[in-house]
Amino acid sequence: MSEKPVVLEVSHLKKYFKAGANAVLKAVDDVTFNIHEGETLGLVGESGCGKTTCGRTCIALYDKTDGMVKYKGQDVHTLKGKELKAFRKDAQMIFQDPYASLNPRMTVADIIAEGIDIHGLAANHKERTEKVYHYLDLVGLNKEHANRFVHEFSGGQRQRIGIARALAVEPKFIMCDEPISALDVSIQAQIVNLLIRLQKDMGLTYLFVAHDLSMVKHISDRIAVMYLGVVAELTTSAELYDHPLHPYTQALLSAIPIPDPEIERKRSANRIKLEGDVPSPINPPAGCRFKGRCKYATELCDKQVPELKEVSPGHFVACHLY
Ligand SMILES: Nc1ncnc2c1ncn2[C@@H]1O[C@H](COP(=O)(O)OP(=O)(O)OP(=O)(O)O)[C@@H](O)[C@H]1O
Ligand SMILES: [Mg+2]
Repeated sequence: MSEKPVVLEVSHLKKYFKAGANAVLKAVDDVTFNIHEGETLGLVGESGCGKTTCGRTCIALYDKTDGMVKYKGQDVHTLKGKELKAFRKDAQMIFQDPYASLNPRMTVADIIAEGIDIHGLAANHKERTEKVYHYLDLVGLNKEHANRFVHEFSGGQRQRIGIARALAVEPKFIMCDEPISALDVSIQAQIVNLLIRLQKDMGLTYLFVAHDLSMVKHISDRIAVMYLGVVAELTTSAELYDHPLHPYTQALLSAIPIPDPEIERKRSANRIKLEGDVPSPINPPAGCRFKGRCKYATELCDKQVPELKEVSPGHFVACHLY
């Protein structure tokens, strides 16, 4: 992967929200990672840990509080005019909830063509229609679907429409924000396989957000595990599954059910349970943010924030155990 150029470079990114008169909510608090061309970086963590905020800040849908996001070398938060418009075309998003993210009053054709119109990608109406048919076909739908409304479709089909809408502006980078978590398990693999195929065919780069580790393995080259606004561990997906280092990653992995009762029974004996609650991002604990739920926590974890360190080639962990 490392030979491919870096597409997205995120360094020490922070995104805080105001929470009342004097409080700040530290949704993203010093996050650093790179994504290479054609790569998928999975971003995984429990609800509220800052995945969506991080992804949205990366594509400049949110201003940053501090740090830097560079897309192909350009600081995304300083883009204006034509450059910003070009970035808005290059960097697309696929949403978690295909029900809420598609306009119920627009036909499928108009939903898909909205970006084509904004960016002037079709010379005339005929070309616009041809493009709509092309993208419907690409995501496994067909031209009969073009003049219908989203309420006529199943969840999986709606997500296909959301994918077609993102693809229609010929993007290079897509932030996929839990695109399968609202779907039936039986449909999830189909959508993941579609995203993998499209990535290969079109040379796309993905940031793939998910809240558990079960499906991300198949799509991600590398995975960043987030906990309460920070990256706990970052490495290739094979390494993360085979040698998880951070106690939080180990807990997340042991929470994945294995569809074999025999293995499952043996496993549950030494399953690492997550104890306690996720602390509030409004007053995150000093030192290691995970310490309150970690059975290995020591005094050092109370005092000092663990830095994200490279402990073996390409394997980064933020934990005082290493
Ligand atoms: N626009 C906002 N204004 C204020 N607080 C926000 C805003 N967006 C998110 N937050 C807060 O920031 C924290 C991170 O939220 P975020 O949506 O990024 O988490 P997430 O990891 O995507 O969670 P989920 O898995 O539930 O989607 C949460 O505490 C959330 O309440
Ligand atoms: Mg989210």
